[in-house]
Amino acid sequence: DLESISLLEIPKISDPDGRGNLSVIEKDVLPFTIKRVYYLYDVPSDSSRGGHAHKELKQFIIALSGSFDVVLDNGSARRSFTLNRPNKGLLIPSGVWRELENFSAGSVCLSLVSDYYNEDDYIRDYNEFRSSK
Ligand code: TYD
Repeated sequence: DLESISLLEIPKISDPDGRGNLSVIEKDVLPFTIKRVYYLYDVPSDSSRGGHAHKELKQFIIALSGSFDVVLDNGSARRSFTLNRPNKGLLIPSGVWRELENFSAGSVCLSLVSDYYNEDDYIRDYNEFRSSK
């Protein structure tokens, strides 16, 4: 449940000669097989994204650049996470309502997800989400 959700550390390889960092996500570290990758960018700071739950899809989200907040809601409680490092990720299980907000200028939100795009997997109505719990 929401209690067990936390930011996951993504391994970082720092260059010994000061040439920057490299982070890597291998297939086996996520509890699902990645079928699709997409990213959000050029999001105005006063916009919010998300505003839905997925019936089955699982998702791993990373702020590749900049920062934004992810508010998770399981129908009875809410938790907010700030993503602001490219080596931290948030795993969102299926059946959780999410809102993404407070995007900083130039932020990029990478999503690694467990399935192809399918509108039938979305619950976009909050009341419907609540009553599905
Ligand atoms: P949506 O998942 O609602 O985005 P967000 O939660 O970030 O606000 O998707 C926005 C629109 O883009 C919606 O009309 C569906 C479309 N879309 C695709 O066509 N393919 C995709 O892989 C995704 C994620 C969205």
